Amino acid sequence: MRYGYFDDENREYVIDHVNTPVPWTNYIGVNDMCAVLSQSADGYVFYKSPQYHRITRFRPNAPISRPGHYVYLRDDDTGEYWSISWQPVGKDLTKAKYECRHGLSYSKYSCEYNGISACQTIFIPLNEPVELWDVVLKNNSSRPRCLSIYSYIEFSFHQIDMDNQNFQMSLYASGSSYADGIIEYDLYYEESGYQWFTSSFEPDGFDCLRDRFLGAYRDERNPIAVERGECTGSFEKTGNHCAALQKKLVLQPGQDIRIAFLLGEGKRETAAPMREKYSDPANVDRAFSDLAAFWDEKLSKLQVNTPNQGMNTSLNIWNLYQAEVNIMFSRFASFIEVGGRTGLGFRDTSQDAMTIASSNPEKCRQRIIELCRGLTQQGYGLHLFQPEWFDPEFQGKQQSFKSPTVIPTPSMEEKVHGIKDACSDDALWLIAAISEYIKETGEVSLLDEMVTYADGGEGTVYQHMMRILDFSAEQVGATGICKGLRADWNDCLNLGGGESAMVSFLHYWALQHFLALSRFIGKTEEVEKYEKMAAKVKKACNDNLWDGEWYIRGITGSGRKIGTHDDKEGKVHIESNAWAVFSGVADLDRAVKAMDSVDKYLYTRYGLMLNAPSYTKSDDEIGFVTRVYPGVKENGSIFSHPNPWAWCAEAALGRGDRAMKFYNALLPYNQNDKIEVRQSEPYSYCQFVMGKDHTAFGRARHPFMTGSGGWAYFAATRYLLGVRPDFDHLIVDPCIPKDWGSFDVTRVWRGAVYRIHVENPCGVSKGVKTMEMDGKTLSGWIPVQKAGTQHSVHVVMG
Ligand code: GLC
Repeated sequence: MRYGYFDDENREYVIDHVNTPVPWTNYIGVNDMCAVLSQSADGYVFYKSPQYHRITRFRPNAPISRPGHYVYLRDDDTGEYWSISWQPVGKDLTKAKYECRHGLSYSKYSCEYNGISACQTIFIPLNEPVELWDVVLKNNSSRPRCLSIYSYIEFSFHQIDMDNQNFQMSLYASGSSYADGIIEYDLYYEESGYQWFTSSFEPDGFDCLRDRFLGAYRDERNPIAVERGECTGSFEKTGNHCAALQKKLVLQPGQDIRIAFLLGEGKRETAAPMREKYSDPANVDRAFSDLAAFWDEKLSKLQVNTPNQGMNTSLNIWNLYQAEVNIMFSRFASFIEVGGRTGLGFRDTSQDAMTIASSNPEKCRQRIIELCRGLTQQGYGLHLFQPEWFDPEFQGKQQSFKSPTVIPTPSMEEKVHGIKDACSDDALWLIAAISEYIKETGEVSLLDEMVTYADGGEGTVYQHMMRILDFSAEQVGATGICKGLRADWNDCLNLGGGESAMVSFLHYWALQHFLALSRFIGKTEEVEKYEKMAAKVKKACNDNLWDGEWYIRGITGSGRKIGTHDDKEGKVHIESNAWAVFSGVADLDRAVKAMDSVDKYLYTRYGLMLNAPSYTKSDDEIGFVTRVYPGVKENGSIFSHPNPWAWCAEAALGRGDRAMKFYNALLPYNQNDKIEVRQSEPYSYCQFVMGKDHTAFGRARHPFMTGSGGWAYFAATRYLLGVRPDFDHLIVDPCIPKDWGSFDVTRVWRGAVYRIHVENPCGVSKGVKTMEMDGKTLSGWIPVQKAGTQHSVHVVMG
């Protein structure tokens, strides 16, 4: 069963059955203001921080997601009313036609009902903290129509905690006012606690008090003000507030009208100029096309044309979009992560930054510096921290967007908790992010930039990298394998103070990145030291972690091996096997066996399970994973994030058919017509899909905010299609299914455009026979070309 389709030309996903099994969300805004909205316009918007500066309210985890950013229409002749998005009024879908188009940073809701067509496009201009609703109404009937249009949003107390508990102060410290067509909302105790709402028209009515607009014992489905056809003109200091503006309209047959609603950050004074600007539809159009140009620019960095249509749609549009959304909003705003956390998760942000170096080098660099500042002198990263704590611009000041009265500046002890809080993998990811950033941009000087450590002192970025590698070398158990510490990448696999196979493999991978970089910049002493370290790590891994057919997952504090052939549960794990191979630790024989075991034990038609069989008996020495239901999340679900690691491992082995089998199984696009199973958005990777050991096998949960967004993009573009930059050249080293005859990749790298055509006349998966650029033979790679130039590259595999 399907609920929508991909419209690649418009870069939209079109939901023509809006009653999706769960909300299908989109992210609006690319800068400081961000809204998460569903296919029914339910959702919320925040400014900079979903935790501390929520603008509109959202009642999380409710049977129906409410409230949202709604427009109501009322037929003033009959009293009948409906909403432009299907919810909240929820008209009978056999009588009303509803559609939602989710695009890149905008959503377009439209309906046809009762002879009126209506469309509400919601977006946030690139550099202005204002949410625009571009609304068009048209009378398709043959008689004049008297209509009322109403906006509706519910304001939130800014801090999520205050919005969910103890209202004895907050309820009496929030107020609203109305003057000259502008509603202002304020939080009395916050200096910067103001928002406004206005429209391009002079309203005929308004309400700022939620309960006056909705009425007693009612909700957004049937507001009394809409039912009656009159707002009450309410506003007050104290209470719960909304922004309802009403306009009465007469539309002649065939007539249309375009109006704008605006929700902005700041005091009333900032509303008037914005209102004037966006009352001119030409300015709305310009802001919308600027946003489209922003995405054009990003997407143009890498476009592909392969025989796999799902891969094309994903890599050219949705997968990159998801990766960018993750890095922009650092994974803490969705309908699941409802904004109760902000800041940067060390490992998640490092990986997200690494994967968008090509489309967003500025953000990648910013995150690298923020993460370096969140590193301790000892070399472990703070697992979760606020980048503002260590930002010199904020030193001595409160974050301007937080309430000065409520958020104290944390002390050093509150910021840095010591090694007991450290996860063993966190900082290792940063090494790869730095190396990928330099490969992308060529900015080697980043390595010399001085950056502070979280607990005092400073060092260059290069020194930060060495601290990270040294930390992992020091934090090893008796076998020489890295300690798991609080957890490794798998939050729920704690190993009771034992050792993590995955982290040792990761350490080796990070070392390879660092060594390549150090050789490139001629650091011979460091090369010597870290080559020795790498050799030691490799030996420890191969001496201790091989089980005969695959690599074990770890060793518990009491010395028990986890993930062995003797285990009835948690026998084979993805993380250690994919990383043993992708890192280069495993020799060919072991690598082949390990990945064959992954295929044999973990493959399902919806992707690779994280481990199998799932744990059914609690065992705290293994970790919390054993207390998670079988087939769910870290316990044997198809956890999406590590799936691309297995694609990379298969690519390293040159097994393109196997890699593509794994890729296709997880690809959300391929489940577009199986929504009765998947339930969630088919345009976004989800954090996990229920595994075989769960009755809801195939059901996907937690869209957008997952490391699989970035990793799927990174793995598919760099290792399956094989186009990836090195420090001074571009590599083309594809690993594809044997039946692919050819494919094309257009890649912008350091300002030059490379149009790469790859042919596969002999039907191989791996291996490049010849490579030419602009008619000249190349010796295996593409040297850096001048910015502004364009080049044709012809690659023949064989
Ligand atoms: C979640 C966390 C991530 C972790 C993963 C596996 O996605 O955000 O940090 O690695 O779960 O436990």
